[in-house]
Amino acid sequence: MTREELKAAAVAMLDRAYCPYSHFAVGAALECGDGTVFTGCNIENAAYSPTICAERTAVAKAVSEGHTDFVRIVVAGRCQDFCVPCAVCRQVLREFAPNIEVICLNGKGEEQVFTLPELLPHSFGPEFLA
Ligand code: THU
Repeated sequence: MTREELKAAAVAMLDRAYCPYSHFAVGAALECGDGTVFTGCNIENAAYSPTICAERTAVAKAVSEGHTDFVRIVVAGRCQDFCVPCAVCRQVLREFAPNIEVICLNGKGEEQVFTLPELLPHSFGPEFLA
């Protein structure tokens, strides 16, 4: 999948977002080393705290299908700012892909690109427990 196709896959997930409380839709498209792509959207809950972000939906789909080799993720929002991953999602990505490229889109489809170490410096990971 090209970079533009990956971005389009994340944007398409905005329509799948279940966000009746925040009305803040997020879409994600996570690409693996072998080219497999897993998409996700945020899924809110009336009890609020069970809400899962779009990025973690995509990671859960990937890991549960046997994929943990992530190379890039697109995070899309309809907001003015670039839709960056929350701290919990950064940590979840860190578990599997400490150097993943994170492509953040705003509502106009413009991008801002980060590496995970830029978003989560001095991070804690599995090697600490080895
Ligand atoms: N959200 C995400 O899906 N990803 C993030 O990284 C930031 C926040 C969702 C969670 C919630 O449904 C809504 O955005 C507002 O916080």
